[in-house]
Amino acid sequence: MSIVAPPQTPPQANDLCWCGSGRKYKRCHKPLEGRVVQGEISPYRPVPDHINRPSYADTGKVVRWNEPRVKSAEIIERMRHAGKIAADVLRLAGEMVRPGVTTDEIDIYVHQLCLERDAYPSPLNYNGYRKSVCTSVNEVICHGIPDSRPLQEGDIINIDVTTYVGGVHGDTNATFFVGNVDPVSHDLVRVTEECMWKGIEAVRADRPVSDIGKAIEAHAKAHHYGVVKAFVGHGIGEQFHTDIQILHYYDTRGTTTIMRPGMTFTIEPMITLGTWQHRMWDDDWTAVTADGKRTAQFEHTILVTDDGFDVLTGGEGAVSPFAPWHR
Ligand code: MF3
Ligand code: CO
Ligand code: CO
Repeated sequence: MSIVAPPQTPPQANDLCWCGSGRKYKRCHKPLEGRVVQGEISPYRPVPDHINRPSYADTGKVVRWNEPRVKSAEIIERMRHAGKIAADVLRLAGEMVRPGVTTDEIDIYVHQLCLERDAYPSPLNYNGYRKSVCTSVNEVICHGIPDSRPLQEGDIINIDVTTYVGGVHGDTNATFFVGNVDPVSHDLVRVTEECMWKGIEAVRADRPVSDIGKAIEAHAKAHHYGVVKAFVGHGIGEQFHTDIQILHYYDTRGTTTIMRPGMTFTIEPMITLGTWQHRMWDDDWTAVTADGKRTAQFEHTILVTDDGFDVLTGGEGAVSPFAPWHR
């Protein structure tokens, strides 16, 4: 098979496309210029039998059950452990980010790091997801599937790690720079991390969860950025996703769920340079911005306490490149 390579200097919008389709460049390949192109996805990686697996690991089917929103002290201790491991794996995976590394290589490493820590990589076979981590580059909002695409100088990449160990999940993600990035992307990533912390700092017992989205949205708006609506934070514990939904924008739907000490959920805003609206790739996982502009995300698993919050995926291993109060 021969593939026509794009020319070094792009044609004029009204010229015929370089690919030989016979269509105008502006109606053919121009809209895809600079976009992330999917690579090859490698085969499923097995998990040894001694690692405790979540129920969906063998079937790919997620069966939800009613899990208490307020966790016991014993579950919380296990979640602290799973959270620390997720944070540790995320930090190590982030250290591997540099031009030329493929997202598949990041997946191989995350898979290995989880197994070494007796953890199951929660994404693997979750609703049939085929990899151990999500890697979302540039305009990919979330759930990017690791593949053979090498990271390019100037890319931004979100790595989303979830670990299942001791019968509970810990879920955390961060956006990393590939070499030197342009100032606009740099600002987006900084503000996105700030948005996550604004949301976390709004966590307070006896307040509605809508306080979280309100704080996030206000900060994003102050910077003229968009807030993705289609993907939300979630309750977490013995299940990867439970019924609690944490919207990252203000909505009256969030006013009836009241935060209580012992509740655990994620806060994971996805912030965009342009539109908040998304499109799906035909793999039915990869969500991208509708306008192809860049987007960033940060995530922590949070516990509501008597006097505020605890970051279960924080601590020593936590990735926080900007927020000065957590450096
Ligand atoms: N870690 C993601 C979240 O924050 C979920 C990934 S689901 C997967 O909720 F199947 F794509 F792994
Ligand atoms: Co999550
Ligand atoms: Co996650």
